[in-house]
Amino acid sequence: MLISDDTTTKSRKLRILVCVSGGGTNLQAIIDGIGDGRITNAEIVCVISNNKKNYALIRAEENGIPSLSISPKDYADREQFNQAFLDAVNGMQPDLIVLAGFLVVLPEEMTVQYRNRIINIHPSLIPSFCGKGYYGLKVHEKVLERGVKVTGATVHFVDEGTDTGPIILQKAVEVEDGDTPEILQKRVMEQAEWVILPEAIHMIANGKVAVEDGKCRRK
Ligand code: GRF
Repeated sequence: MLISDDTTTKSRKLRILVCVSGGGTNLQAIIDGIGDGRITNAEIVCVISNNKKNYALIRAEENGIPSLSISPKDYADREQFNQAFLDAVNGMQPDLIVLAGFLVVLPEEMTVQYRNRIINIHPSLIPSFCGKGYYGLKVHEKVLERGVKVTGATVHFVDEGTDTGPIILQKAVEVEDGDTPEILQKRVMEQAEWVILPEAIHMIANGKVAVEDGKCRRK
């Protein structure tokens, strides 16, 4: 299957929905990538946050991107949240959903409906330091605890598992003596995440990523 065949053949821009839970530096990297031409054939149609106070929402506003916040806390149970979330997502008619530091577990129905159309950025070289419990600063703490000398980031498609989907791009980053989790997190973001996330989106938007037998292949 060639991702985004439809959009490239009809030559309309890939409609991207970005989901965030934090400061949104990866969202900013996408905005910048579109602005400076590293990402072509794509537009961000909406930003969804699970917290009204996320700085990512200000980044969206400053760039004229529509946004909404929706949280499991606002619903009586998970089922109601899942339905409301899926309705909101479907309402945007996205071609690609980008999880840019989104800490909410997706409804399983969504991963099925948007198979190979949801991507995630993870701050390690999968399959190391990933899976349940490995998110945010915790990943870098574990990297330092184990004493590995190279870490990095991975962009992958999202499936029903945690960090188990087909890998699109990875970039390695050196761990240095004296690193704290915060210092390492910053280096991984600057040297890897903000580079490969825009690159992966550009590849998808231009029909350069195929998924075969659960693996990504460059076209
Ligand atoms: C990033 O490190 C991302 O890899 C992780 O969460 C962080 C989000 O940061 N999943 P930001 O909100 O994009 O600044």
